Amino acid sequence: MSVEDSFKNVIAHAKEYGFVFPSSELYDGLSAVYDYGQAGAALKNNIRNYWWKSMVQLHENIVGIDAAIFMHPTIWKASGHVDAFNDPLIDNKDSRKRYRADVLIEEQIAKISAKIDKEVEKGRARFGDAFDEVQFRATNPNVLRNREKIEEIERRMKGALDADDLQSLKQLIEDLEVACPISGTRNWTDVRQFNLMFSTEMGAVSGESGTIYLRPETAQGIFVNFSNVQKSGRMKVPFGIAQTGKAFRNEIVARQFIFRMREFEQMEMQFFVRPGTEMQWYSYWKQARMRWHEQLGMGMDAYRYHDHLKLAHYANAACDIEFAFPFGFKELEGIHSRTDFDLSSHERHSGKKLRYFDPETNESYVPYVVETSIGLDRIFLAVLSRAYTEERLPDGSERTVLRIPPFLAPIQVAVLPLVKKDGLPEFALTVLDALRYRYQVQYDDKDSIGKRYRRQDALGTPMCVTIDHQSLEDGQVTVRVRDTMQQERLTLEGLFSFLEREVGLEPVLRALHERQSEGLPA
Ligand code: GAP
Repeated sequence: MSVEDSFKNVIAHAKEYGFVFPSSELYDGLSAVYDYGQAGAALKNNIRNYWWKSMVQLHENIVGIDAAIFMHPTIWKASGHVDAFNDPLIDNKDSRKRYRADVLIEEQIAKISAKIDKEVEKGRARFGDAFDEVQFRATNPNVLRNREKIEEIERRMKGALDADDLQSLKQLIEDLEVACPISGTRNWTDVRQFNLMFSTEMGAVSGESGTIYLRPETAQGIFVNFSNVQKSGRMKVPFGIAQTGKAFRNEIVARQFIFRMREFEQMEMQFFVRPGTEMQWYSYWKQARMRWHEQLGMGMDAYRYHDHLKLAHYANAACDIEFAFPFGFKELEGIHSRTDFDLSSHERHSGKKLRYFDPETNESYVPYVVETSIGLDRIFLAVLSRAYTEERLPDGSERTVLRIPPFLAPIQVAVLPLVKKDGLPEFALTVLDALRYRYQVQYDDKDSIGKRYRRQDALGTPMCVTIDHQSLEDGQVTVRVRDTMQQERLTLEGLFSFLEREVGLEPVLRALHERQSEGLPA
C-alpha cells in the first residue's frame, strides 16, 4: 500500500471511530479546521494531561497558568508578530494555487537529499558487510556534489529570508526550475509577504483602534504575566511557566489533515533563566523533551532533531524535534532560546519593568528565556498515525488495531460479559464500577466476543476484561491484551495491580521523573 493510501486510511479510521471530524461537515466543511469526537477528545485530554503533569507536577519550579486568548493589541506589536509574522507566498498563475516560497525550495532540498540516500543505499548493496556509511558519505563524489548543492540552496534561501529579499527568493525558485505540482508550469507571480494573524474587532469600536488579534501563540500570555506569577508565586530564577491553549494562524498552505491547521492547540513552557546560562538550559530542555517523547514508547527511530538555519526574530538558538509522520519527517515540537527579546520588548512597549532581582548575585536583570513549544494536534497525529496498524493474523484473518500508548488510550479498559445472561452482566458491572474511578472504562455486551475485541482494537483499548461463567465461581476474570492478544486469568486484586502497571500514568511519570536530573545544569 502506498504511503498516501495508508495515510488516507488513518484519516478515514479517525472519522469512523470518533477521533477527528472535519469541522462544519454538515455545511461542507471549513478548510483546515477540525473537530475532535468522543475518542479524539479523550485522547487529546490524556496527552495534555501527560504534558501538564510532566511539566507542572514533576517540577517544583514550574507552574501552570491559563491566559485569555484575547490580549491587548500592542502585545503583538511588542512580540514582533504585527511586523514579522509573515510567510513569503507565491502563486502559480496557471493553477491559481498558492504556495509558501520557502516550502517550495525546501521540497527541492528534500529531493536532492533523497538522491543522496539512494546513492548510500546503492553503496550498501554493492559493498555488503564491509560498507562504511560515514566514510562513503564523506568521500563519494555524487554524495559530495549533491551535498554542496543543498548547502548552496540553503545559503541562498537563508540570505534571502534574513534580508527579506523577496526578489532573490523568486530568483532561487526560477533557478531551481520549480514547477507547480498541479499545472506543471513555472509561471509564477512575484513573492510577497502575508501576515498570518487573524484579526477581529472588540466591542463597539471598529477600525484600526478596535482591532485585536486571535493569539498566534500562547507564549505571549506567559510573558505578559511574568511579573504577576513571579511575585505571587515567589518564584526564583530559574523557573518555568507552562500553559496549554488554542492558537490561530491563517496558514497559506493548510493541509495534511490536522498537521497544519488554522485553529490549533499549543502546549508551551517558558523557562526563565539567568542571562549567560541560556545555552546550558537550551541543551537541557532539548534532551528533556526528547525523554518525554521516549516515554510514549513509540520507538526513537520516529524522532530526530533539526537545528534551525533561519532563526525566528526572537531566537539565538533553535531546533525542532521532528517526527516521522506518514508524509515524512516534519516538525513536531520547537525548542527555542528566545534571549530577553520578549520581556525587554514588553518593557519598552508597556513602560513597565519586567526585571528579576537575583538574591544570589545581588543584581536585577531581564531574565533570558528557553521555550519548549509543542502542538497538541501534532502530537495527537503522531500518536494516531504511529498507532494505526493493519495486521494479518496467524489464522489468516485481519485486524485493524490502534497501538496507542496504553496510558493515553481513550478507553483504557473494556469490560465484557461473555453472554448477556446468567448473572454475567451484573458481575461485569461490579468490575466496571470498581475500575471507573481510575480508568476510562466501557461496558459492551453486544455481538460475539471476537467482534467486541476487534471493536476495542480499532479504538485502541489496551485491555479487555472478560467475565465468563467460571468467573461467578472463582471470582477470576480474563484480561486480554490488545497488542499481543494474549489472555490471562486474574483475581480482581491481581487485575487491579496488573492494570496499574500496564496502563496507569503513574509508572510513566515515575520513569520520567527518575531521569529528570540527567543533563541538568549545575
Ligand atoms: N511560541 C513559539 C511558537 O509558536 P512555532 O514553531 O511557530 O513556535 C510551535 O509553533 C509548535 O506549534 C509547532 O512545533 C507545532 O507543533 C505547532 N504548530 C504551529 N503551527 C501549527 C499549525 N498551523 N497547526 C498545528 N500545529 C501547529
